[in-house]
Amino acid sequence: MRVPRVAQYRGFWFASLAAEGPSLEEFLGPMTTSFDDMVDRSPSGTLEVAGGFSKHVYRGNWKLVLENHNDTLHPRFVHASSVAAAREQSDAVPTDGAGAVQIRQMRQNGAPAQVWEELGIWTSEWGHSFMGDYHTDKAAVALAEDDPVQVEYRRALAARVGEARAAEILAVSRFNTVVYPNLSFMSRFRQLRIIVPLAVDRTMLVTHTFRMPGAPERMFHDSIAFANVVNGTGSLVLTDDLETYERVQRGLESQGGEWVDAARGLGADAPDPSGMLRGATGTSEVHIRNQFAAWARWMTGAA
Ligand SMILES: [Fe+2]
Repeated sequence: MRVPRVAQYRGFWFASLAAEGPSLEEFLGPMTTSFDDMVDRSPSGTLEVAGGFSKHVYRGNWKLVLENHNDTLHPRFVHASSVAAAREQSDAVPTDGAGAVQIRQMRQNGAPAQVWEELGIWTSEWGHSFMGDYHTDKAAVALAEDDPVQVEYRRALAARVGEARAAEILAVSRFNTVVYPNLSFMSRFRQLRIIVPLAVDRTMLVTHTFRMPGAPERMFHDSIAFANVVNGTGSLVLTDDLETYERVQRGLESQGGEWVDAARGLGADAPDPSGMLRGATGTSEVHIRNQFAAWARWMTGAA
């Protein structure tokens, strides 16, 4: 079919099946800053879709993955087995060599509760949200500032934008961004997932990785390695989430309970100076409530 409207932001193209409605930038709102983060990080100011793509399907409703991507409470528990496996592999946080990125990401999932409480969950109109202040603790998945690859990368970025702007760009510490209801991306490691509902209880994710032209090639390899942890079906991490979606779906289908509790942080979430509603703590379920508010709005046609 011909779609009535297409528009792009920073080279990311969107199509709308509705002839009328908010413009793309109105719709994305503060989520544009996550696209900025992804593109601005490239020393060439451009990104390239690279490394192929992957698809996976889970037996659950499409909402489950969107609820999960900014859920900071689950990693320590749902991913406990891979946290333990990563700790067995290495006492220190590895920076280089085979599996370093995977091990870092798996260890990060086991970060102390306080780390998760202190990061930020921000939400905006239309059900969107992002997780910020993520890469600030020492177990973080990102390379240390003095890592030779990071030094070379920073130099390449500064050559284009200047030292001051490079510092500003690299200070953004963001993890997943959810553009409700069908997109989730992660700027630091340049992952993007499109969520495709196949049936009420069956969902496909199409996942892409990007290369930053002009950045050290090792960073692209790290992105691919990262993709294998967070998007790969052979992953020791993703498989935990897929299993959980399936069990949640089965639980909900059983009609065993009338309500699902998503009240964590309720009443204490507060407007941010940016105009977004920020979770009371990093583990607030504000993003889930925000998604269902948007869902109700779509379904009822409320303005
Ligand atoms: Fe997870």
